[in-house]
Amino acid sequence: MKFFLDTADIEEIERGLEWGMVDGVTTNPSLIAKQGKPYLPTVQAIAEMVPGPVSGEVLATEYDGIMEQGHRLAGLAENVVVKVPLSPAGLRAVRDLAADGIRSNVTLCFSAAQALLAAKAGAAFISPFVGRVDDVGGSGMEIIEQIVAIYANYHFETEVLVASVRHPLHVVQASLIGAHVATIPFSTLEKLYHHPLTDVGLERFLSDWQKTGKTFDEKAG
Ligand code: E4P
Repeated sequence: MKFFLDTADIEEIERGLEWGMVDGVTTNPSLIAKQGKPYLPTVQAIAEMVPGPVSGEVLATEYDGIMEQGHRLAGLAENVVVKVPLSPAGLRAVRDLAADGIRSNVTLCFSAAQALLAAKAGAAFISPFVGRVDDVGGSGMEIIEQIVAIYANYHFETEVLVASVRHPLHVVQASLIGAHVATIPFSTLEKLYHHPLTDVGLERFLSDWQKTGKTFDEKAG
């Protein structure tokens, strides 16, 4: 399963890369706005740091604007994937961007029906927002299950990129279902490492050894 980092924060990406857990990055206008930096240079800087796919979102909502911004985003670096909102204009652009050799990540997906359309349009990734579905009393993971089954039925190549991840259980559930990717906020990535028994166990191992008064590289005899 691939882990993308869901952030536009350069320091978070540096740390995630150091940990060896970042296969790609997703950004969106809200995440870039939070950094207070210019739009395209931020996407470009991230794409230069990360070897895998980096999603940069168009701000246009009409076909011509999506195409124009999509080409500009894709021109920043080879690994930039153009994030396009799910709408008739968006999916038309996804099809035409694909014909131009440009990969798209269809965003703001909240149903299996929408995901089916995105796959038919030729999206490289579909981003169903599980956390936002849960927030309104739905089950984000049920939608992931449906999309994974539908894509398998028809051998679609579109990868299921679980987005709006809020906690480690989302990541575990997404991996059990067999989603290709989870895009994870840095705070959730940190949480994935932690378990109280790991902390207690490590403390005990170290204190037991410390009680012997011996060192790590003490010679035998
Ligand atoms: C990523 O592709 C999405 O834009 C992001 O996961 C949305 O997350 P949020 O619902 O926490 O804003």
